Amino acid sequence: MRRKVTVIGAGNVGATLAQYIVMDGISDVVLYDIVEGLPQGKALDILEATPLYNVSATIEGVNDLSRMEGSDIVVITAGAARKPGMSRDDLLNTNASVVRTVSREIKEHCPDSLVIVVTNPMDVMAQLCWHVTGFPHQRVMGMGGILDSVRFRTFISMELGVSVQDTEALVLGGHGDQMVPLPRFTTVRGIPITHLMSKDRINALIERTRKGGAEIVSLLKTGSAFYAPASATYQMIRAILLDEKRFVPAAAYLKGQYGVKGLFVGVPVILGREGVEEIVELSLTDDEREAFYRSVDAVRSLVEKLI
Ligand code: LAC
Repeated sequence: MRRKVTVIGAGNVGATLAQYIVMDGISDVVLYDIVEGLPQGKALDILEATPLYNVSATIEGVNDLSRMEGSDIVVITAGAARKPGMSRDDLLNTNASVVRTVSREIKEHCPDSLVIVVTNPMDVMAQLCWHVTGFPHQRVMGMGGILDSVRFRTFISMELGVSVQDTEALVLGGHGDQMVPLPRFTTVRGIPITHLMSKDRINALIERTRKGGAEIVSLLKTGSAFYAPASATYQMIRAILLDEKRFVPAAAYLKGQYGVKGLFVGVPVILGREGVEEIVELSLTDDEREAFYRSVDAVRSLVEKLI
């Protein structure tokens, strides 16, 4: 049977993600948006490019959420993006009502799907989606950790003049200003960056990673990042559809792991056909744990405002 992924929201992240999926031929796509004509126009444009990619995947733009029926994965990208000077958390109330509505529809039309939440503040929106759908927690996850880690990798590559391919990085915690890039688990070909850079430079790159989304917002002025966020989301979709068992950071429901109960927050997970198949627990140093809990507290305080 053909695979089907529904992308909710045909803005920059949603449409770019739809394009990546179709270009790779990995799945058919339904692209939804509330604005009439927008998803239809973007979907038709993407479809008309498929002969050039030699793929048989198709895409359709819709304004009707019931068309998601039969999807293997539903991705929520709908909602407002940041404007310069805003934090991800400033989007809480506006985006919660969007995510609440679409989550109800997902529950109704796609009760067996997996859901990837991208809408910000992402960890909180993942929690809300899980709460509204009532899905088993391994079927709901949020995209943030991969994005933050690849940003960190990019900055390390720029600093050291080495290929991004030789870098690895791990960022834990919420996808917010308190996220926790972990130098101890960040390496160039297995060599921790603590051996390759001064503490000051590492701290500067950590700070740039934390503000990575805001840096793009301040340059674009009219929207937020979408190429890297869509690419990171695509990696999660591929891991699930191909049952790749990728080891990646993602927002997942913790039920005691890392000493956190009942909250979605970014941790390393194994992603495969069942969704979050495993949560990988690392033993953290006192400083790392303290930073992680600061980030967890920031996520929890937003969740408490909503649920
Ligand atoms: C960012 C937004 C997508 O980090 O959260 O760019």
